[in-house]
Amino acid sequence: MWQYTPRVAVIRGVRTPFAKSGTHYAHLSALDLGKLAVSELVARSGIDPKSVQEVVYGNVIPSVKAPNIAREIVLGTGLPRKIPGYTVGKACASANQAITSASDLIFRGYADTVIAGGSESLSDIPILFSKNFAEALVGASKQKSVGRKLGQFAKIRPKDLAPDAPAIAESTTGLTMGESAEKMAKENGISREGQDKFALQSHHRAAAATASGRFKDEVMTVIVPPSFDNIVETDNLIRGDSTLEAMAKLRPVFDRKYGTITAANSSPLTDGAAAVLLMSEEKAKAEGLKPIGFIKSYAFAATDPFDQLLQGPVFALPAALERAKISLADIGVIEMHEAFAAQVLSNIQWMGSRKIAQEKLGRSEPIGEIDPEKINLTGGSIALGHPFGATGARIVTTVCNELQRTGQQYGLVTVCAAGGIGVAMVLERE
Ligand SMILES: CC(C)(COP(=O)(O)OP(=O)(O)OC[C@H]1O[C@@H](n2cnc3c(N)ncnc32)[C@H](O)[C@@H]1OP(=O)(O)O)[C@@H](O)C(=O)NCCC(=O)NCCS
Repeated sequence: MWQYTPRVAVIRGVRTPFAKSGTHYAHLSALDLGKLAVSELVARSGIDPKSVQEVVYGNVIPSVKAPNIAREIVLGTGLPRKIPGYTVGKACASANQAITSASDLIFRGYADTVIAGGSESLSDIPILFSKNFAEALVGASKQKSVGRKLGQFAKIRPKDLAPDAPAIAESTTGLTMGESAEKMAKENGISREGQDKFALQSHHRAAAATASGRFKDEVMTVIVPPSFDNIVETDNLIRGDSTLEAMAKLRPVFDRKYGTITAANSSPLTDGAAAVLLMSEEKAKAEGLKPIGFIKSYAFAATDPFDQLLQGPVFALPAALERAKISLADIGVIEMHEAFAAQVLSNIQWMGSRKIAQEKLGRSEPIGEIDPEKINLTGGSIALGHPFGATGARIVTTVCNELQRTGQQYGLVTVCAAGGIGVAMVLERE
C-alpha cells in the first residue's frame, strides 16, 4: 500500500559570528544572542512571521531568570505572541535536538513552519553561592527585623563566600570533558602530533572558507548592543596563521604531566547563536522557497560515561544510516563536531574498527572508514568555536550549504555530548 511520507525541508540557516567568551559578546546573554540569530533568520528568509507556528531552541547553561529561552525569543523579537516556544537541553547536541523535535512536529503534520536552533553565552554563566550562604540569604529574606536578618549570617564562614561556578564536568564521573578526552586519547593511542595536525587543518580550512566568502550565506553581521559601536562580521577564534611548531610548544591542560590535550587541539569556550528555518516540503513549494536540504533521518544514542564519554556518535551512526537506508559510502559531505581533536580521531577509529563493531555495537562489520582529511572541509568547532547550545544548528546549516555547493546528495552530521550522548543526522540535497 502506498504511504505518503512528508519531507522536512531546511529552508536556510544563519548564525552570529562565534566569539571567544569574554570578547565581543562579553555583555550579552544567550537570550540576546538567540534573538539576534532568529531575527536575522526571519529577515533573510522573507517569510511572514505569522506563518511560524513554533520556536524550538537549545541552550545548555540556562538563565535562572528566563529558563525557557525559546519563549523569550518569541517575545523579544516581535514574533507573534501566540507562538509558544520551548527550550531543549541535550548538552552539546541541544540544537540537534531542537531541529529534530521541530522536524518531528512537521513530520506529524502538527506544523508546517518552525524555527529551531540554539544559543550559548559562556560569558554569562550563573555563579552560584555556597549552600550555607544561600541558606542564610533565604533565611534572612524571611525575617522581618534587620537584627534577625543579620542574625542569619552569624554562621557564615569566609569559605562560604567563595562563588561556586558551574564546571564543564560530568556529575556521574566527576571528570571534565577535557579529562574524558584525555582518557580517550590514551586508550585509543591518539598522538599529540595527530591531534595538533587535525586542529591545524581545522584552523587553515576555516580561515580559507572565511576568506573566500563561503560563510556569507550563513554568518550574519552583529552590531553589538547596547552601544552599537562594535561591528562583528567574522568568527574571532580562527587562527589562520597557526603552525604545528607553535602548537607543539603548548603545555597540556587537563593532564599537565602526561597529557596531550592543549588549548590548540580543544574547542574553545565560545559565545554565539544559530537558527534554522524548517518547513514541510509542500509549504516551501507553496511559498516559492528553495530548500537548501532535507532531513532524511536522525538517531540519538548514548554510551556509558565511565567508558569513553565522547564516543556517542559511533553508537548513533548505524541507526541514522539504517533509517536513511544508505551506507556510509553514499555520504558525500561529512561534518563531525570537534569537541577535541582526540575525540574526532577516536570516533573515526571506532567507526572503522571491526573489534569495536563486534564488542560494543553488536555488528559483525565495522560501520565504515572515514578519512579525517575529507571531513569538516570548512573547518570545525576547534577553529570556529563551540557555543554549546548552538553548534548543532551551525553544522546542519553548513552541511546543507555544502550539499548545494558540491552537488552531493547526502550529508552527515555527528555531534558528541556530555553524558555519553551522541547524535547522527543524515541530510539530503533534493
Ligand atoms: C582548553 C581551554 C582550557 C583553554 O582555555 P584558555 O587557556 O583560556 O585558552 P587560550 O585561548 O587563552 O589559549 C591558551 C594559550 O594557547 C595558545 N593557543 C591557543 N590556540 C593556539 C593555536 N592554534 N596555535 C598556537 N597557540 C595557541 C594561546 O595563544 C594561549 O597562549 P598564551 O597563554 O601565550 O596567550 C579551554 O578552551 C577549554 O576548556 N576548552 C574545552 C571546552 C570544553 O570542554 N568543551 C566541551 C566540549 S564537549
